Amino acid sequence: MTPKLTLKIGTLAFASLTLAGCAYLGLGSPDPRWADYTSWTKINEEPITGDHTHILGNLHQGSSGYRDIYVNDVGRDTVLDPEGPYKYPVGTVIVKEQYRNQAAYERGGRPGVTVMLKVEDSNPTQASDWQWSRGYTMTASEDDFCSACHMAAYNSDLNFVNGASLPDFLRQ
Ligand code: HEC
Repeated sequence: MTPKLTLKIGTLAFASLTLAGCAYLGLGSPDPRWADYTSWTKINEEPITGDHTHILGNLHQGSSGYRDIYVNDVGRDTVLDPEGPYKYPVGTVIVKEQYRNQAAYERGGRPGVTVMLKVEDSNPTQASDWQWSRGYTMTASEDDFCSACHMAAYNSDLNFVNGASLPDFLRQ
């Protein structure tokens, strides 16, 4: 990774500290596109923890966070494919639940939620192909903060965890 990219991601991680508070201010009903995500397919059989990409910083609760990822039926076959190529159909919604640490995960309760939605299928892939939501009851929109880091997964359509990479994410 170039120093420039490292710096950029460091800045993003800092920005998240100031934005983290807002994520919990979302009130009202969840977007129907992900309201019932807990009934979807969970991609990982064990929780994901650690920082396997070395770019996470304090994002998604950082390396001590515990995370589960859910996918709707539209993106299910693509994300679970062990080989790819990973190019998701429009309508794919991926939800990540995040807990601060193992103890919080085991206690259960309300996790932090982040969501990505495939809204366009450009060729080549564009950041604007996905919208992002920072909370269960927050709205989805283009979000440079999220997409800038997820561009590191450019070769798999901005999505990090898939059938090919999952074993690495589960390795402690
Ligand atoms: C600094 C980098 C970074 C930023 C910024 C970031 N993410 Fe992620 N995100 C990751 C990584 C790395 C993963 C892979 C899973 C892991 O390491 O736990 C991930 C995983 C996800 C997933 C599960 C699907 C996947 O790609 O594996 C969703 C959904 C997600 N992020 C949403 C968001 C949203 C919404 C935002 C903006 C609020 C955001 N992310 C900002 C790095 C980032």
